[in-house]
Amino acid sequence: MRISVIGCGHLGAPHAAAMAELGHEVIGVELNPATCRVLQSGRGPFFEKGLDDLLQKYVPTGRLRFTGDLMEAAEFADLHFIAVGTPLREDGRGYDMEQVFGAVSALAPLLTRPCTIVGKSTVTVGTVARVQEIIADRAVDGVDLVWNPEFLREGHAVEDTLHPDRIVAGVSSAEAQKAIEAVYAPILGRGDVELIVTEPATAEVIKSAANSFLATKISFINAMAEVCALAGADVKTVAHAIGVDHRIGHAGMRPGIGYGGGCLPKDLRAFTHRLDEIGATNAVALLQAVEGVNRGRVDAAVELVKEAVGGSGLAGVRIAFLGAAFKAGTSDVRNSPALELARRLVQAGARPVVHDPEAMETARRLHPEHTYADTLAEALDGADVTVLATEWPQFGEDTELPASAARTVAARRLVDVRTCVDPRDWVTAGWTVWQLGRPVRSPQP
Ligand SMILES: NC(=O)c1ccc[n+]([C@@H]2O[C@H](COP(=O)([O-])OP(=O)(O)OC[C@H]3O[C@@H](n4cnc5c(N)ncnc54)[C@H](O)[C@@H]3O)[C@@H](O)[C@H]2O)c1
Repeated sequence: MRISVIGCGHLGAPHAAAMAELGHEVIGVELNPATCRVLQSGRGPFFEKGLDDLLQKYVPTGRLRFTGDLMEAAEFADLHFIAVGTPLREDGRGYDMEQVFGAVSALAPLLTRPCTIVGKSTVTVGTVARVQEIIADRAVDGVDLVWNPEFLREGHAVEDTLHPDRIVAGVSSAEAQKAIEAVYAPILGRGDVELIVTEPATAEVIKSAANSFLATKISFINAMAEVCALAGADVKTVAHAIGVDHRIGHAGMRPGIGYGGGCLPKDLRAFTHRLDEIGATNAVALLQAVEGVNRGRVDAAVELVKEAVGGSGLAGVRIAFLGAAFKAGTSDVRNSPALELARRLVQAGARPVVHDPEAMETARRLHPEHTYADTLAEALDGADVTVLATEWPQFGEDTELPASAARTVAARRLVDVRTCVDPRDWVTAGWTVWQLGRPVRSPQP
């Protein structure tokens, strides 16, 4: 099929590349000229596993191309994915829908033949009806609308697009359903992915419900970390033991400094606001509690760092601060709890030097207020305490880091706020290890 992807950010760029991999001819439309130029050169504008490979495979052949010109896409494609951003409004009261309404309003009058518009952006309940009105007002007859929310995980965006757990399509006509079946035919043909066809309002709620559940699971295990810290128990063992029950599971059960990124924080806030508007009081109370637990995680991490340096305050304490991305696998630092922790440590008088394997460029650009080190060795050099703030595998289990870092730091104190190392490896190399909701581990005298 000939398709367009309008908005080529963290969702749209991997989606466009994955659609080319499925065999479609794809045009990506990106308003930001710098992002568009990088994509045209066959590279990803951010770190995302597998994205560069697909861009290098398909951009030179012309099967995948990028433009800033919406008219080119309108003329070329029979199906248009809308993958623009839905940031939180400045006052926090729901999404700023300008990009979605703006993109559809601009596209609709350019369409000259029947086609399908497929919304992928995360939107709040009631949005599809408004987009439908824009199409009815501005487009020729025969333009169908589908809402097809996206569930990909950043860091696995390409893989998740090509191998989704399910495909949800909120449709209002048989033609719209046919278009979705056609564009995803190579995936659906494998027979192991369910296509869940529903009316648009249900598709909207499915996406918000999925993100709310994921955030709830993270806050649940983080609340248990708080319990374990007070009870002298070990939350990692609790997470493992309860997760063995298949009704609970292990996924998303790693205690830490809470969720962040470009999705969960804003989606929870926007959904809660909408639920409040429609009077879903129990759901509002639940999601407010989830958000409250999440906010408290950075406070808990600051206290742990203070504990690690002996309770004498953080003024002047030199910190090797490992991690800037909001989670491993991405260079995205939007709402990164790692950088929020770094900010709070600076506020308390400490001197964190931040190093991240993939997010240095983004972090420097968006948060120039921090001190950065290009290399891990530079970050560790002379540190009074090492804080592990993003769960990159190169900082985690089965690395040489405990022994190599021990040689350059001033003191062997590790505060792992992502619960991602095996403390025994570090204790063997002479470190004392603090983790949220776990007993402190020190070398035996
Ligand atoms: N990032 C994720 O992992 C993820 C996962 C699932 C769903 N989503 C949802 O996908 C949507 C996009 O998120 P994102 O993280 O990719 O945001 P993003 O900010 O990274 O990307 C949005 C892109 O759209 C471009 N854009 C805006 N208006 C445009 C227009 N009229 N024409 C062409 N380009 C335009 C922007 O320049 C930007 O590059 C959001 O609704 C988000 O909630 C994101």
